Amino acid sequence: PSRPPVVWHWIPLFGSAASYGQDPIKFYQECGEKYGNIFTFILLGRRCTVTLGAEGNNFVLGGKHTDLCAEDAYTHLTTPVFGKDVVYDCPNELLMEQKKFVKFGLRNDNFRTYMPMIEDEVTQFMKKQDHFRIFQMNDINEWGTFDVLDVMSEITILTASRTLQGPEVRDTITASYADVFSDLDGGFTPIHWLFPSLPLPSYRKRDIAHKKISDLYVSIIRKRRESGSKLEAPDMIASLMEQKYRSGRALKDHEIAHIMIALLMAGQHTSSATGSWLMLHVADHPEIGEALYQEQVKNFRLPNGKWRTMDFEEIKDLPVLDSVIRETLRVHPPIHSIMRKVRTDIAVPATLASPSENGTYVVPTGDYVWSSPAVSQLDPRIWKNSNEWDPTRWSDPQGMAAAAGRAYEDSEGAKIDYGFGLVSKGTDSPYQPFGAGRHRCIGEQFAYLQLSSVIATVIRQVELKLETPFPQPNYQTLITLPKKPRAISYRRRQF
Ligand code: HEM
Repeated sequence: PSRPPVVWHWIPLFGSAASYGQDPIKFYQECGEKYGNIFTFILLGRRCTVTLGAEGNNFVLGGKHTDLCAEDAYTHLTTPVFGKDVVYDCPNELLMEQKKFVKFGLRNDNFRTYMPMIEDEVTQFMKKQDHFRIFQMNDINEWGTFDVLDVMSEITILTASRTLQGPEVRDTITASYADVFSDLDGGFTPIHWLFPSLPLPSYRKRDIAHKKISDLYVSIIRKRRESGSKLEAPDMIASLMEQKYRSGRALKDHEIAHIMIALLMAGQHTSSATGSWLMLHVADHPEIGEALYQEQVKNFRLPNGKWRTMDFEEIKDLPVLDSVIRETLRVHPPIHSIMRKVRTDIAVPATLASPSENGTYVVPTGDYVWSSPAVSQLDPRIWKNSNEWDPTRWSDPQGMAAAAGRAYEDSEGAKIDYGFGLVSKGTDSPYQPFGAGRHRCIGEQFAYLQLSSVIATVIRQVELKLETPFPQPNYQTLITLPKKPRAISYRRRQF
């Protein structure tokens, strides 16, 4: 059988590591032009087969999990960080059950209590932090600057821990555990994916940090069970403590602990990266900043000049805020490559690519298959001015139809139900910042809620502008983050 074309490279084992590592999106786009929608590149001895376009997304994300396996692709990176017996360190059927448990913790009546808590955290943050302090500014016309990623990282962890993670984690994060969390994070990088174990400090620190944090969660769970104390709001630990596997057994304490660590890691960089890119674009487009602000004034400003807290259900009726988030996720999806490992030789459908009219490509067992929705999200054949960050495209039914993976037919485009946050649930959509299929993100609604509430609280108080060139993406981290300098200028609004 024919194998997909292999990307030409100089050094046999090293392969295309350099050009891939520098800018994976550009690498995929250039290979796509040269070889078509499927090609294999060599990355330090591994065969990585990339499939592009909506068909390529469908091939990887819609594939059977017995053929294309996520745990084989990720476990050596994630298990030392999350811990044993959860996510990719258990059979896929158990992960599916664990995702159901987490969804139970992410239900709407929990969300409703989270919005005022997030608003409060952000407001406190804006009072206290040295690098982003609006309430202490004396002169209303004074401009200050803040490093957007530093600020968004801190706000993200404060708000996620106050809501999902619960009060005990919220208190330890700012106190004694900040360094421990950062050591754990230091073990969650592309290097740790490439080299599962090396005698380096980052690996040792990761293992020590995992143990400390896992013990912390276990002790929280035990204390709660013993004291039966009442919470400010229902959080994820409380939800998980109520759940049972289909077999009838409850989750063990270490399993709850490890799911909590997984959620922390899954949400932290994805949301703080999205929030950072969003703020940078808004600062770069003051007219959009003004539209966001006016939308807040119209909907939430009370006659006495105070602000009313946004309700969870109201977010979807704020077209400016909604399209600013959607568009940021289109241009800067935090996860640029989604991977699976091939367990049995798999034939590539002719609709994706074929070597000849009647031929079929076969991807061999042991290959990694990668999809990159980032490429289809920037494809000029699908999106007008595809590289431009333009939230107004989301109020254009044609743009919406494209995003939903459908041809636009007159009024059809306007009729599509886009739901909340998500545009399309299919595995063959060109727009998939949250993935699709079996392994699809379950944190999407929480991320939308958190981002909406954070952005609204900030934009109500300050004007933003960008005085330095727009930052380039850093692909050396697992999540695509803006490189330095990434300072945003801000000024307190005059009421
Ligand atoms: C899966 C993106 C926030 C929890 C995924 C996947 C993507 C993604 C692309 C699919 C991975 C794959 O197929 O291999 C994002 C983005 C976020 C975000 C862009 C924010 C803007 C969150 C949050 C949580 C979370 C806040 C938790 C509260 C998960 C979980 C999975 C997942 C549990 C399932 C993994 C699996 O089934 O293999 N996410 N995520 N995510 N995400 Fe998120």
